[in-house]
Amino acid sequence: MSEALSTRYRSTVAGSLRASDVGTQARLAGWVHRARDLGGLVFFDLRDRAGLVQISFDPAWTPSEVMALARDIAAEDVVQVEGRIEHRIKPNPELPSGAIEMRGTGLRVISRAEPLPIPVYRAPEEELPAEDLRLRYRYLDLRRPELQKSFVIRHRAAQSARRYLSEQGFLEVETPMLTRRTPEGARDYLVPSRVHAGEFYALPQSPQLYKQLLMVSGFDRYFQLARCLRDEDLRSDRQPEFTQIDAEMSFVDEEDVYRAGEGLISAIWRDVAELELATPFPRLTYADAMARYGTDKPDLRFGLPVVDVTMELQGADFRLFQATIGTTQRIRGLRVPNGAELSRRELDELQEVARRGGAGGVLWVKRTDDGFAGQFAKALDGSVAERFIGASGMQPGDLFVAVVGHFRIPDPSLPVEGRRGDQPPAAGLEPALDELRRHLARRMGMIDPTAHAWVWITDFPLFDWDEAEGRLVSAHHPFTMPHPDDLEMLMEVTVGGETLTEEAARSLYLQPMRSRAYDAVYNGNELASGSVRIHDPELQRRIFRALGIGAEEVQLKFGFLLEAFRFGAPPHAGFAFGFDRLVMLLAGATNLRDVIAFPKTTSARALFEGAPSTVAEKELRDLHIQVRESRKV
Ligand code: AMO
Repeated sequence: MSEALSTRYRSTVAGSLRASDVGTQARLAGWVHRARDLGGLVFFDLRDRAGLVQISFDPAWTPSEVMALARDIAAEDVVQVEGRIEHRIKPNPELPSGAIEMRGTGLRVISRAEPLPIPVYRAPEEELPAEDLRLRYRYLDLRRPELQKSFVIRHRAAQSARRYLSEQGFLEVETPMLTRRTPEGARDYLVPSRVHAGEFYALPQSPQLYKQLLMVSGFDRYFQLARCLRDEDLRSDRQPEFTQIDAEMSFVDEEDVYRAGEGLISAIWRDVAELELATPFPRLTYADAMARYGTDKPDLRFGLPVVDVTMELQGADFRLFQATIGTTQRIRGLRVPNGAELSRRELDELQEVARRGGAGGVLWVKRTDDGFAGQFAKALDGSVAERFIGASGMQPGDLFVAVVGHFRIPDPSLPVEGRRGDQPPAAGLEPALDELRRHLARRMGMIDPTAHAWVWITDFPLFDWDEAEGRLVSAHHPFTMPHPDDLEMLMEVTVGGETLTEEAARSLYLQPMRSRAYDAVYNGNELASGSVRIHDPELQRRIFRALGIGAEEVQLKFGFLLEAFRFGAPPHAGFAFGFDRLVMLLAGATNLRDVIAFPKTTSARALFEGAPSTVAEKELRDLHIQVRESRKV
């Protein structure tokens, strides 16, 4: 903090005092972090945003009325103290101000604190109070220096992003919070209109359509630290309200977007973590990521790639393997270097890990000095063993874990043509391999905690399949440009009629159609998504047709976008980084709640203020709303 913070209440801030201040007189104001009354002497740790400093009261330098008041101070009282800065008799190397203390000569109580529902100071071994209680008293929990540090990081990251993007010619533009409902993606939060009975605004899930319109308006490069609201099921990395670093650019393709994204992230890492990231970030297609790591957000701090051993093991005398012959089922697994050291119990645990990922179980085998041991060891003899070792790279002491069944990406090395007619891949076994890979990497100590493994995942599928409704849905969003090599396929299928038959729609999913969408993944976390957008109204119409959104509905919901595209739309592309996730990882936190000042619980409640809440009948009437069922209070 700067000199500017010197006010009537204080000459400087407590946490900034250092040995160079010894001999000076100071006035401080802040919270009493901890007060210790040692009979003759009283010590406070005085806390402000900048940190802590020890204040000592001793009859040798403290007037008796001040001594008496000091004895009467409790934790979290707000006080003003005056005194001289001196060397500390017993320095505390843990504290930045630990070499010095203030010898208190004056003390004034500004504000008393009642006994606290949750403590701010905790002894190192003391556990945090229950999270619900901390969220109920969020303003007190936020006094904890650990939490405050995260907000300094958040602030710095935001400033860094703004500075970098401004320097790169991006213009910060705010987009509306009261918007039109969008049908795709998560559920909207709705706001009833008082003026227009029976009509609703939606809070924005992202500024997607606005940023595209801004491109049509000629803004060329836009950014915003955008608040997004989504009524979706929450997890530790999801909040109903969150922030994106949202950007869009005109006259660009993927390469320009990757460069802008890498520049942005490098600037933030430089400014906040004081680290120089290696650029360009590596790239992996979605199909390769799924095949090699079983996920579209692979943690590349470690290797442990998936190996396909179908060809090698089909010939083994093992019923499960033989059953794959003539089907699209595959045998895939992981070679775990030195994994033979895992105990029987740890191997048994792998069954549960694989089941979490949707597999019925996992098969394992260890390579020993003179052969194999484990579940399918007997099937590995002669040429089968040789071919298996060749494909998997198994060394003595290694473990191989395998799952057998259908995969979403049956064989990425096949041309698209060759993949036609494969089994419905919606629920492939890739997640089981992903779970196993992450579990085993942790168990084997393969994760370098200091690594920063960024990767762009490219060529995402254009569509997902909604089994319940029997229709295509956008994998990213409906404004994403199809992959040029798969465009012909779309044109063929969407020619003529209004909406597609289920069979035709399904064929686009199964082939599968790729898109120009990409994600930025960091240490196994999806941190950004984006795409090259469609800027041709005819192509956009065909996508809507494929999605089963009829012409009338399109006109109603997206008419304004299609209309805008008719008046000269530049090619454009963009991205959005999840800002809270980014800060969470920079701060070393494990939950988004630790980097959001006033977060919601997993059931989307704000406990300190009690939101959501019921409202009076009269207010509802003004909003033309009648509540059908309400919670009994
Ligand atoms: P998407 O929906 O993938 O893309 O969101 C972009 C990034 O935002 C973060 N994110 C979240 N963070 C916290 N809580 C949530 N509930 C949450 N949901 C998403 C993730 C994600 O990668 N308009 C497009 C972007 C574009 O195409 O330009 C969009 O919103 O880190």
